[in-house]
Parts: sequence; C-alpha cells; structure tokens
Amino acid sequence: MKFSGCIFSILLTFTLYLNGAPAAAAELSGETEACLACHALVTPGIVGDWHASYHYKSSPAEGLSKRRSSRRISAEQVPEPLADTAVGCAECHMMNADKHSDSFEHNGFTIHTVVSPSDCATCHPTEVTEFADNLMAEAYANLMHNPTYAGLIESTNGKHEFTGQGISFHGSDPVTDADSCISCHGTDVKVVGVETRETMMGEMDFPQLSNWPNTGVGRLNPDGSKGSCSSCHMRHQFSIEVARKPYTCAQCHKGPDVPAYKVYAVSMHGNIQKSVDKNWDYKAVPWTIGKDFTAPTCATCHASEIIDENGELLAKRTHRFNDRLPWRIFGIPYAHPHPIAADTSDIVNQAGLHFPTELTGEPVPKFLISPAEMEKRQGAMEAVCAGCHSDQWIKGHFARLDTSIETTNHMTLQATKILAQAWEEGLAAGIPQGQNPTNEAIELKWVEQWLFFGNSTRFATAMGGADYGVFADGRWYQAKNLQEMYDYLKFLRATKAAEK
Ligand code: HEC
Ligand code: HEC
Ligand code: HEC
Ligand code: HEC
Ligand code: HEC
Ligand code: HEC
Ligand code: HEC
Ligand code: HEC
Repeated sequence: MKFSGCIFSILLTFTLYLNGAPAAAAELSGETEACLACHALVTPGIVGDWHASYHYKSSPAEGLSKRRSSRRISAEQVPEPLADTAVGCAECHMMNADKHSDSFEHNGFTIHTVVSPSDCATCHPTEVTEFADNLMAEAYANLMHNPTYAGLIESTNGKHEFTGQGISFHGSDPVTDADSCISCHGTDVKVVGVETRETMMGEMDFPQLSNWPNTGVGRLNPDGSKGSCSSCHMRHQFSIEVARKPYTCAQCHKGPDVPAYKVYAVSMHGNIQKSVDKNWDYKAVPWTIGKDFTAPTCATCHASEIIDENGELLAKRTHRFNDRLPWRIFGIPYAHPHPIAADTSDIVNQAGLHFPTELTGEPVPKFLISPAEMEKRQGAMEAVCAGCHSDQWIKGHFARLDTSIETTNHMTLQATKILAQAWEEGLAAGIPQGQNPTNEAIELKWVEQWLFFGNSTRFATAMGGADYGVFADGRWYQAKNLQEMYDYLKFLRATKAAEK
C-alpha cells in the first residue's frame, strides 16, 4: 500500500481510539492493536460493535476461570498466546491461516475475511461439533445436491418465457439463486481472483469472494468448513442475547412455507415475550426459568440450557437443533420422523425420488430415526415445558400435534392422488414423464397444498397461533385448494376432449 499521507491519520486515529475506547478487562495483543490503529478509522462500526462483546471484555483464561455452569467457552484449554489476551481482530481473522484459501497479505499480516466455524472451534468446540450435526449446517447440499428439489428452484427463480404456445422454462442463474433460496440456506463462497482496490488508506489487494456477502446457515466456506455462526450471533458482538431473541430466527423462519416465527409471534408465548421481556435477563448463563424469563422463546424450546432456582438442570444446551425434535413437521411433501443424518440429499425412496417419504406418504424408515429415538427427543422437549406447565397440559398439547400431523398428511395424500391422476391421463407432465413436477398450474396447487397449507397448520399446532392453522394459510385453504385441484382436473379433461 502507499503509506504516504496516511501515517499521520493512522497515528491520530489510534490516539483517538485509545482515548475513546471503553476499558478492556483483558489485554490486547500487539497484532490486534495494529488492526485497531487503522480500523478505528476504516470501519468504526465494527470496532464499536466489538467493544460491546464478551470477546473484548475477557480473555479465554478468564473465561475458563469461571464456574463450569457459567462458562461461555467449551474448550478445556486454550493454547498460548491466545489464552491471555482479549479475542481481538487478529485472534479471529488470523486463526488457522494455513487452512484458509482466502488468506492474504494485509498490511504486514496474513488474514482472512471469512472467519469460519473451524476458527471459532479453538475456543467453542462443543458448539461447532454439535452444529455440524444439524440440518442447518448441511442446508446447502440438502437443497442444491438434491435432484428432486431442482425443479422447485427452477420454477421459482428461473426466467420464464411466454412463447405464444405456452411458457418455456429456463434454469435459474447463480446471482438470483444467491439472492433467493441460498441467501438463507447458504452460498458457496470461494476465492475467484484477486482485486486491487483504492481504499481510504491507499491501494490494497484483496481476494475476490464468490457469492459474497452471505450469512446462510449452511454456507460453504473457503476453508472447507460449513455454516456461519454469525447467522444467529451477528458480528461483531457475537451475543447470546441476540441468539435467544426470536427476531433473529425470524430472518429465515417466517414463511408462508416455514412460518415458525409467524405462529410464535401471535402465540401466548410470543405475546408474553413482547409484553414483559423488559424484565427478563437474556444475558444470564446459566438461564434460570421463572427468574430470568417467564415464557419461552425459540431458543428456550429448541436449544437453551435451562436450570431452576435450585440449580437443577431442566434441559442441556444444544447446537444440534433437532435434539428435541421427534418429527420433521416441515413436510416435503409429508411430515415424517426426523432424518437420522444432517445431509438429506442422499435420501432416496422406493420410486427413486429424493424424498424421505413415498409419494403416497409412507416414511422411508432406513433414513429416519427410530420410535425409541423419537420418544427420547419428545422427552427432552417435554422437560422444557414442565418448567411452567403440568403434565396434563403438555400431554393434551402433543396429542393435538399427533392428530394435526395425521390429518394434514391425509389432505396432502388426497391432493397427490388428484395430481397423479392428471399425470396418468397425460393432462400434465410430471414425475412419470420425467418432467419437472412443480411447474404447471395444477402442480403449483399441489405444492401449495403441502408447502404452505400443510406446514402452516402443523406449525400452528406445534407452536401456537391457531389462526395460521385455520383461516390464515391453514385448514380452510387445504380444503379449498383440494376442491380447486379437482375442478382443475375436470377443466383439463374437458380441454383435452375439445381439442380432439
Ligand atoms: C494500514 C491500515 C490497516 C491495517 C494495519 C489493517 N487494516 Fe484491515 N483494512 C484496511 C483497509 C483500508 C481496508 C479496506 C476497507 C474497504 O474496503 O473499504 C481493510 C479491510 C479489511 C478487511 C476486509 C477485507 C475484504 O474482504 O474486503 C478485513 C477482514 C480486515 N481489514 C481485517 C484486518 C485485520 C484483522 C487487521 C490486523 C491483523 C487489519 N485489518 C489491519 C486497513 C488496515
Ligand atoms: C470472534 C471472532 C471475530 C473477531 C474478534 C473479529 N471478527 Fe471480524 N469477522 C468475523 C466473522 C465471523 C466475520 C464474517 C461474518 C460472516 O460470516 O458473514 C467477520 C467479518 C469482518 C469484516 C468484513 C465485514 C464486511 O461487512 O465486509 C471485517 C472488515 C472485519 N471482520 C474486521 C474486524 C475487525 C477490525 C475486528 C476487530 C475490531 C474484528 N473483525 C474482530 C469474526 C471476528
Ligand atoms: C480465542 C478464543 C475464542 C475464539 C476464537 C472465539 N471465541 Fe467466542 N468467546 C471467547 C471468550 C473468552 C468468551 C467470553 C467468556 C467469558 O467471559 O465468560 C466468548 C464468548 C462467546 C459467546 C457468548 C457471548 C455472550 O453474549 O454470552 C459467543 C456467542 C461466542 N463467543 C461466539 C463465538 C463465535 C461465533 C466465534 C467465531 C466466529 C468465536 N466466538 C470465536 C473466546 C473465543
Ligand atoms: C427466508 C429463508 C429461506 C429461503 C429464501 C428459502 N428457504 Fe428453504 N428452508 C428455509 C428454512 C427455515 C427451512 C427449514 C424449515 C423447517 O424446518 O421448518 C428450509 C428448508 C428447505 C428444504 C428442506 C430441505 C431438507 O431436506 O431438509 C427445502 C427442499 C427447501 N427449503 C427449498 C427451498 C427452495 C427451493 C428455495 C428457493 C426457491 C428456498 N428453500 C428458499 C428457509 C429458506
Ligand atoms: C440464516 C437463516 C437461518 C436462521 C437465522 C435460522 N435458521 Fe433455522 N434453519 C434454516 C434453514 C435453511 C434450515 C433448513 C435446513 C435444511 O433442512 O436443510 C433450518 C432448520 C432449522 C430447524 C430444523 C433443524 C433440524 O435439524 O431439524 C430448526 C429447529 C431451526 N432451524 C431453528 C432455528 C432457530 C431456533 C433459530 C434462531 C435461534 C434459527 N433456526 C435461525 C435457516 C435459518
Ligand atoms: C441457529 C442459530 C444459531 C447458530 C447458527 C449458532 N448458534 Fe450459538 N447459540 C444459539 C443460541 C439460541 C444460544 C443460546 C443457548 C442457551 O440459551 O443456552 C447460543 C449460544 C452460544 C454460545 C454461548 C454458550 C455459553 O456457554 O454461554 C456460544 C459460545 C455459541 N453459541 C457459539 C456458536 C458457534 C461457535 C456457532 C457456529 C458453529 C454457533 N454458536 C452457531 C444459536 C445459534
Ligand atoms: C413452546 C416451545 C416452542 C417454541 C417457543 C418454539 N418452538 Fe419450534 N417447535 C416446537 C415443537 C414442539 C415443535 C414440533 C416438534 C417436532 O417437530 O417434533 C417445533 C417445531 C419447529 C420446527 C420444525 C422442525 C422440523 O424439523 O420440522 C422449526 C423450524 C421450529 N420449531 C423453529 C422455531 C422458531 C424459529 C421459533 C421461534 C420463532 C420456535 N420454533 C418456537 C416447540 C417450540
Ligand atoms: C417459561 C415458561 C413456559 C415454558 C417453558 C412453556 N410455556 Fe407454555 N405457556 C406459558 C405461559 C405463562 C402461558 C400462558 C398461560 C395462561 O395464561 O393461561 C403458556 C401458554 C401455553 C399454551 C396455551 C396457548 C393457548 O393459546 O391456549 C400452550 C398450548 C402451551 N403454553 C404449551 C407449551 C408447551 C407444549 C411447552 C413446551 C414445548 C411450553 N408451553 C413451554 C409458559 C411456558
């Protein structure tokens, strides 16, 4: 870089930085001080955000000195010299430099931009190992490597063309995909070149990253790791408070296909959270039920470590977000027992489709958890409820979920039968014809039957918000849509007869 003219401003910034920064409990490394000398001027937002984080306030050694139940780091030991300084810019952005294909020379340091789960693992190994077993960590492959879902991507993201005779379909382009499906599922981030940029401190070289920016849960990182911890712990505060609040999950879980946040927001739990959470402590570790919070958030039911006021453990923390989920109520196309492996792209049914159930709804047992495992996970979820509800309330709730799964699957099957009839009679071209099953009008209605209405109904039963199980995307639409699919079948038959 060209140093002329900027040395003065760097020195000035650093002096201002030292005067303005909140007192750090932990010492900063020399490398991090060098980053700050520039970055307090270049990216003051990042530096300010980091000042508010635990990473600025305490060193790994201090973190490890806490009682086990209050620890925020899961490593048993953190190597020197990392242990004794604050976790600063250099500690994260220079970690495992040799494993990063995005490493580059930056003002005398070898750094990378994409700090990955493998980098966090030096101090947080348990969270990283657990997260890797999560459907979320595999969300890229689960979508992009499953040939049966390819049609859904094309129908949604492709540029369709009216030809006068019909509509022709073209594959989607990578920029649209990155802005659509894989903005949540995660993109494939690779180094695709080097660019020289004019910065406020002269010319510098940076690696060019493909499909960047992205914070999808299953992002493929340049060091070969999967996922992005910042999808729930946004940089640079990396806070537990943010992850425990439902708004964070809402970014990706809002629907109408995945309406977890919508149903939660209008549930009693969500209402209590919005009304009284100013009296809650979202930062406490461990998290005490009744004292720190009085109604569950997404994190409480799916991930959090929860104790009672006697210190008794109700639920152990997990970053494997399916540890408490017996079912996959997100049905493509049917709800079914949860998959065993995080990577679902290998699942094949008897008909050769990459679905966890047959088209008629029977689960493909080889790939799905056993009844014993389902019971164990059910028990783990109920242990959370039991902190605030009695057994009769909890059992009554889950009996409704069993029925909701059964009735919504039944309604999906009826829609599938109508579509299968249309395919058989040659009124639409789908699976039997080796064509995209999700691009003609009657097929789109079939997709809505399960993707929107089946899922919405089940999510409303599982997590509250009854409206979403009835007149807002729920049972009403399931019934109406089925009727319309049948009428559409008759219309297609009449059209075909008229053409003859
Ligand atoms: C001499 C000043 C200077 C020093 C020292 C410095 N940086 Fe930078 N850094 C910059 C400038 C300028 C940019 C460009 C910002 C932009 O694109 O607007 C930058 C960009 C970056 C980026 C973003 C790269 C990208 O992908 O676009 C990261 C990450 C980064 N610096 C981290 C660090 C770390 C970590 C250190 C310390 C080890 C450090 N920097 C030291 C000036 C500096
Ligand atoms: C705990 C680890 C950690 C620490 C400490 C940390 N970073 Fe980062 N930083 C990250 C992660 C993770 C990302 C990428 C976020 C993502 O996955 O999207 C990132 C991204 C960045 C970027 C690119 C952001 C953009 O929008 O272009 C810059 C620049 C950067 N960091 C600078 C810094 C500076 C300066 C410091 C010190 C004040 C710092 N980082 C401290 C983990 C860290
Ligand atoms: C060099 C060790 C180190 C690395 C690397 C590291 N952390 Fe941390 N992390 C810590 C320490 C130390 C604390 C605070 C411990 C304490 O004060 O009890 C912490 C705390 C946290 C917390 C809890 C914050 C809160 O509000 O309670 C989260 C979340 C977190 N880190 C996420 C990350 C993520 C994500 C990464 C990677 C992008 C990362 N950390 C990288 C050492 C590290
Ligand atoms: C707003 C974020 C977001 C976008 C955009 C998004 N998804 Fe998803 N997707 C999710 C979430 C969240 C889940 C998990 C749903 C659940 O478990 O309730 C999911 C799950 C899936 C699954 C299940 C994968 C498996 O086997 O486990 C498929 C298939 C899928 N999405 C397809 C798509 C397609 C196709 C697109 C683009 C047309 C898309 N998604 C766009 C958030 C998103
Ligand atoms: C950046 C987007 C994103 C954010 C933020 C996000 N998720 Fe997800 N989540 C997904 C996607 C995508 C999937 C589906 C992955 C698949 O099926 O392949 C998913 C799947 C899940 C699953 C099913 C997991 C399993 O293994 O069966 C649960 C439960 C879940 N998310 C809960 C949450 C909670 C709770 C939060 C907030 C603390 C959250 N998610 C934040 C995108 C996100
Ligand atoms: C889907 C959302 C989500 C993702 C992605 C995620 N976390 Fe978390 N994380 C949470 C939630 C929720 C909590 C709060 C758990 C609790 O209340 O006990 C948490 C808590 C933590 C804590 C604090 C633990 C403690 O002992 O206080 C650390 C550290 C952490 N996460 C690290 C990570 C790392 C590293 C990654 C990337 C591999 C990651 N997280 C990815 C949601 C997420
Ligand atoms: C009161 C506890 C509770 C709260 C609060 C809660 N959930 Fe759930 N969640 C459940 C239950 C119970 C199920 C269904 C169990 C099953 O699928 O086996 C479920 C299912 C899910 C699923 C479907 C998983 C799958 O594999 O099909 C996702 C995704 C999810 N929840 C995300 C969230 C998000 C995001 C929030 C917050 C906006 C949230 N949950 C709030 C209890 C809760
Ligand atoms: C931290 C406490 C807490 C936890 C944990 C909790 N709930 Fe609740 N829940 C409440 C409170 C408080 C209400 C409001 C009850 C009232 O005023 O009648 C409520 C209400 C409900 C309702 C009534 C909704 C309605 O519209 O009638 C159901 C059903 C419910 N909870 C089920 C569950 C289930 C199932 C779990 C576990 C998966 C769970 N809750 C976990 C505190 C909790």
